[in-house]
Amino acid sequence: MVELQDKVAIVTGASSGIGASIAEALSEYGVKVVLTGRDESRLATVAKGIQETKQAIVDTVIVDVTHREEVAQLVEKTKEKFGQVDILVNSAGLMLSSAITEGDVESWDAMIDVNIKGTLYGINAVLPTFLNQSSGHIINIASISGFEVTKKSTLYSASKAAVHSITQGLEKELAKTGVRVTSISPGMVDTPLSGDTDWGARKKLDPKDIAEAAIYALQQPSHVNVNEITVRPV
Ligand SMILES: NC(=O)c1ccc[n+]([C@@H]2O[C@H](COP(=O)([O-])OP(=O)(O)OC[C@H]3O[C@@H](n4cnc5c(N)ncnc54)[C@H](OP(=O)(O)O)[C@@H]3O)[C@@H](O)[C@H]2O)c1
Repeated sequence: MVELQDKVAIVTGASSGIGASIAEALSEYGVKVVLTGRDESRLATVAKGIQETKQAIVDTVIVDVTHREEVAQLVEKTKEKFGQVDILVNSAGLMLSSAITEGDVESWDAMIDVNIKGTLYGINAVLPTFLNQSSGHIINIASISGFEVTKKSTLYSASKAAVHSITQGLEKELAKTGVRVTSISPGMVDTPLSGDTDWGARKKLDPKDIAEAAIYALQQPSHVNVNEITVRPV
């Protein structure tokens, strides 16, 4: 098991849900976490909660992941503040009206921009640093919707299938570099994103369940890359 103490992580989508829970879990292991999102007040609330309960070292940076320059600057700001970056968690994401026949093109654009391009911008921003130091871990939050498509989720599923494919291809590109990449595909998790989505009789997962999966991947020995994790409720 690898010691995470004093590593430095950037978490996108840390103002809510899964990203906030991963940021909190990382802090529990002594990781210095840069929490990012667009909503300054929600971000500050999450950061304050972590600081108060975990006595952890955290920072917040307002970033829209659809703006490539902002994401690039985020990495530079993190290195200026903490001297290094070891972990990137791409959790920022959107699930909107998604059926192709509904023709809601703005929703498609938004999901492509946040879920696919935002993830790619994050990867692109940290990779030079990770390759240079021959270490680093990228965690992309995909979804089981990337494997299982319903007629209501066509575009969201396509965006998450893209995140999954990007992670699979990147793992091959990064072989022997020391840099690891993991995609975590959750089932329905109890966050604002899933809202009142009908999930039949199953209880939704807790965001902490996904944070546990992230910690598991991060704690593996440096020669082990847990490339893919799927987490479903029972
Ligand atoms: N909840 C589920 O059932 C579920 C299942 C499978 C996968 N996922 C995936 O898990 C990830 C996290 O979702 P969640 O459930 O935690 O949802 P959430 O609670 O709604 O959180 C979404 C996060 O994404 C951020 N975000 C959205 N657009 C952004 C942008 N343009 N720039 C920067 N940040 C942006 C939001 O921050 P701001 O509003 O502050 O910008 C927020 O922190 C997503 O990728 C989602 O697709 C969720």
